[in-house]
Amino acid sequence: MKKITIAIDGFSSTGKSTVAKQLAAYLGYIYVDTGAMYRAVTLFAIRQGCMKNKTFDAQKLIDNLDAIDLSFKLEVNTNTAFIHLNGENVEKEIRSMEVSQWVSHVAEVSEVRKKLVELQQNMGKYKGIVMDGRDIGTVVFPEAELKIFITADAKERAQRRYLEFQEKGKSVSFEEIYTNVTERDHIDTTREDSPLVKADDAIEIDNTHTTIEDQFQTVLQLAKDRI
Ligand code: C5P
Repeated sequence: MKKITIAIDGFSSTGKSTVAKQLAAYLGYIYVDTGAMYRAVTLFAIRQGCMKNKTFDAQKLIDNLDAIDLSFKLEVNTNTAFIHLNGENVEKEIRSMEVSQWVSHVAEVSEVRKKLVELQQNMGKYKGIVMDGRDIGTVVFPEAELKIFITADAKERAQRRYLEFQEKGKSVSFEEIYTNVTERDHIDTTREDSPLVKADDAIEIDNTHTTIEDQFQTVLQLAKDRI
């Protein structure tokens, strides 16, 4: 069977990573969550003091970009790759509300995008990869054999994220999450560098009313047709 590149893009909290992980596990492919990479850079920026008095000092982050080392390390027990920032597993920290509130601003910075896109392209050099994000089918792998663009109603997406936070025992209101999801969508779709947009050759899936299993079966069939 030939190995292909699968690009999964879409809006915040559409469950891109769920289907991407399922697909990678089924096909024995590498899975890369590029949102985690932007989130890790954001955590680094917060720790460096680039966010002060509600403003983001992008230049300070740019000046320190070389001090960021990102890698994914596989945890054998769970067979899941967790993002590491300068050797530290930051998977939990990058999911905080504070990181969510800054990440789209950090993702607007071209120098940040350049660094991360280069890393992503290296990871996909040998194909056999499922990568999810915002610009995978348009910028990172414009030649990907399969491109999926996932959408869903914003209220439904916020509700799903709200339930996730509740399950983890985190107290965040639905309104706060809804505002964050829609604000990120706005910034991601209107930024100058690599905005979130459906690639011409991407297949659009609206999963507002779809079960995770049905969605997986649809995407799996699309992949099988190309292998
Ligand atoms: O996927 P996730 O919601 O965790 O991504 C967090 C943020 O990272 C997005 O809202 C977006 O601003 C940014 N991002 C991006 N390009 C990607 C992946 C994520 O700009 N390829």
